[in-house]
Amino acid sequence: MYSNKAFTFLFFVICLSFQISSQTNINQEAQSLREILMPYFVPVEQDNQYLNDNQKKIDLGRHLYFDKRLSLNSTISCNSCHDLKKNGTNGAFFLKEKEDGNTFRDTPTIYNVATLSMFNADGGITSLKEKLRHSLINPYEMNVNDEHIIVQRLEDVSTYNTLFRSAFPKSDKAISFDNIIEALQAFIKGLETPAPIDLFIKGNNNALSKEEIEGGYIFNSKSCYSCHTGSNFGGQMIQKLGINEDWPNKNDLGYYRIKKISAYKMFFRVAPLRNVEKTAPYFHDASASQLWYAVKLMGRHERGLEINKEEALKIQLFLSTLSGEIPKDYIKEPKYLLN
Ligand code: HEC
Ligand code: HEC
Repeated sequence: MYSNKAFTFLFFVICLSFQISSQTNINQEAQSLREILMPYFVPVEQDNQYLNDNQKKIDLGRHLYFDKRLSLNSTISCNSCHDLKKNGTNGAFFLKEKEDGNTFRDTPTIYNVATLSMFNADGGITSLKEKLRHSLINPYEMNVNDEHIIVQRLEDVSTYNTLFRSAFPKSDKAISFDNIIEALQAFIKGLETPAPIDLFIKGNNNALSKEEIEGGYIFNSKSCYSCHTGSNFGGQMIQKLGINEDWPNKNDLGYYRIKKISAYKMFFRVAPLRNVEKTAPYFHDASASQLWYAVKLMGRHERGLEINKEEALKIQLFLSTLSGEIPKDYIKEPKYLLN
């Protein structure tokens, strides 16, 4: 009896010490992954101060974002392509347009763009304000070829007169192209999606599972993080697409479109990866529809590595920790009709 009890006790102690040591291992692994990621990373969190201080501009920006009057033919709004309920993009719309031969590049997400250092697939624009001006006039986006038409259209809407005057009390002429851009920018800055990775970086080891941490190590060991770096895991530099093996589709030459220097052929912006799991299809030419497969292509073309499916899926699991909450109330389409 006595020896039985002693045995049970010993067994319990052994189990406990295994558990403690495996917990210590997980904590050590979590900490070392955090140290790898941290130097380039500012966690995303909701900035209530910003949201409070800019309520009126944000509210106006939200109306504009959903308003088709901002496109040349009044047929599409920003939300038609950057659908806020669909993670700020619209894969289905894009693929249909592609089929009809109407489009140019895959639509990137509109979430978390405020902290990017460069915009568009070729990285050719370096400020959000400039990009928003470009979105309005770009033939592939809102296609506004005459700023005055849009301003006039909005001036004819009495609710807009009120909204603009209250958002820009100091402007002599509250409804202007610049103020349209500023209000859109105020709204877009609030489109952030804090994710498990942010909690993890802030010190919460339980925000990522053991498998997700392992995926993070593989992501780093394949040098993905050398290009996909910073809080957005990308969006900071342009790099050649096809360093180790040519990218098959050369219809779009990337940054070369902007700077006609042949060394820039096939240079594209390193895509930011927040919410990437939910924003298929992938790449500027939408040539991959599954994330694990996009990871495999990256290994082959950027690193000269054949990443097997098992490892690609582990990286995909890590990338899923960059998916955040969509701010449901913030993105509600304004209900009342503007006229
Ligand atoms: C017809 C579809 C379409 C519409 C409508 C549209 N966009 Fe875009 N948007 C795109 C495409 C495609 C790109 C990528 C262009 C490129 O890479 O050259 C883009 C890029 C962007 C980017 C850059 C994101 C990044 O990661 O670089 C922002 C910001 C943006 N659009 C905002 C807007 C806003 C604001 C509106 C409304 C005023 C708008 N877009 C309307 C398709 C659209
Ligand atoms: C040499 C720099 C570089 C390296 C290394 C690199 N990438 Fe990329 N990555 C890019 C560029 C550039 C793009 C944008 C290509 C485009 O738009 O067609 C991209 C795009 C992506 C995309 C598509 C995102 C989207 O929304 O379309 C994914 C996913 C991705 N990379 C994952 C990875 C992974 C995982 C690794 C490591 C195996 C990796 N990348 C290594 C430069 C790099």
